[in-house]
Amino acid sequence: MRKLILLILVSILLCSAARAETLVVWFSCTGNTEALAHTAAGTLNADLWQIVPEKPYSDEDLNYHDSSCRANREQADPACRPTLLGTVDVTLYDAIVLAYPIWWGEEPRIVDTWIESVDLAGKQLAAICTSGGSGIQTSYAHLQEKAPDALWLGAERFSANTTPAELSEWCASIGLEKENEVNMRIAIGDHILTVRLADNESTAALKALLENGPVTLPASNYGGFEKVCPIGTRLPSHDEYTVTQPGDVMLYAGSSIVLFHGSNSWEYTRLGSIDEMTNLSGILNGNENEITLSLE
Ligand SMILES: Cc1cc2nc3c(=O)[nH]c(=O)nc-3n(C[C@H](O)[C@H](O)[C@H](O)COP(=O)(O)O)c2cc1C
Repeated sequence: MRKLILLILVSILLCSAARAETLVVWFSCTGNTEALAHTAAGTLNADLWQIVPEKPYSDEDLNYHDSSCRANREQADPACRPTLLGTVDVTLYDAIVLAYPIWWGEEPRIVDTWIESVDLAGKQLAAICTSGGSGIQTSYAHLQEKAPDALWLGAERFSANTTPAELSEWCASIGLEKENEVNMRIAIGDHILTVRLADNESTAALKALLENGPVTLPASNYGGFEKVCPIGTRLPSHDEYTVTQPGDVMLYAGSSIVLFHGSNSWEYTRLGSIDEMTNLSGILNGNENEITLSLE
């Protein structure tokens, strides 16, 4: 009976932790904005939703050197609204980050299709883009015109490999921070690192583990880019192929916490990102062979 009650309590905890209040909506054809959107979602503990065109863009469609290619024709017609697949329930979210590439100095027309298809009144909105060099301001003005009742917080151009710390700094600067965020502390030698935890089943289980007090784990350096810390138990995992960035805290094989001070490509579940990046390699690649985790 006790076990049953415990199971129900854990299920309630996991379900209540499953919904993020921030959504990153992204459109990308060649992967740059996709990478940026994933970093933004990790940083903000946000859900992700992809703008998928009914008719995918081929390489030919995107060849802007050809004046009659599909993308160029669409951009030349401000009234063009390419059809998109699927919908997202924006009523579930308080804040939305819209990520897109710049096409001919503007937002792709399919981004207009999306923004005109949803009611963003009262939502916090921010825009981020990737581009070959053009800025975001023209597209930002267009988006603001199309959703005048949203609370627009700001817009910025980023590179595809922007780090979680850089994005986090910008998000904080425009007031885009998750409320009620739970942070985890990692004590390692004389250092304390703060980790913004992602909002998923794995971190819910990790928080449950730490609710009784700090937990010390063995730790060893690996590959010149990470510190691996076996948890001694399994956490739920939803591994995805990820190119990790310095500062990423990932769950490996459901049973080890991995702290990155460099980059690696593998299947992981995101647990969060380390806030403070100063001398991260020095701290994580040192001789310490244990870490202590606790909730803030
Ligand atoms: C049709 C088209 C038009 C573009 N126009 C611009 C532009 O005006 N200014 C610019 O800096 N980059 C421009 N680019 C480059 C993209 O903005 C850049 O490669 C972006 O990172 C692509 O994002 P993605 O990989 O998420 O699709 C253009 C690309 C395409 C396909």
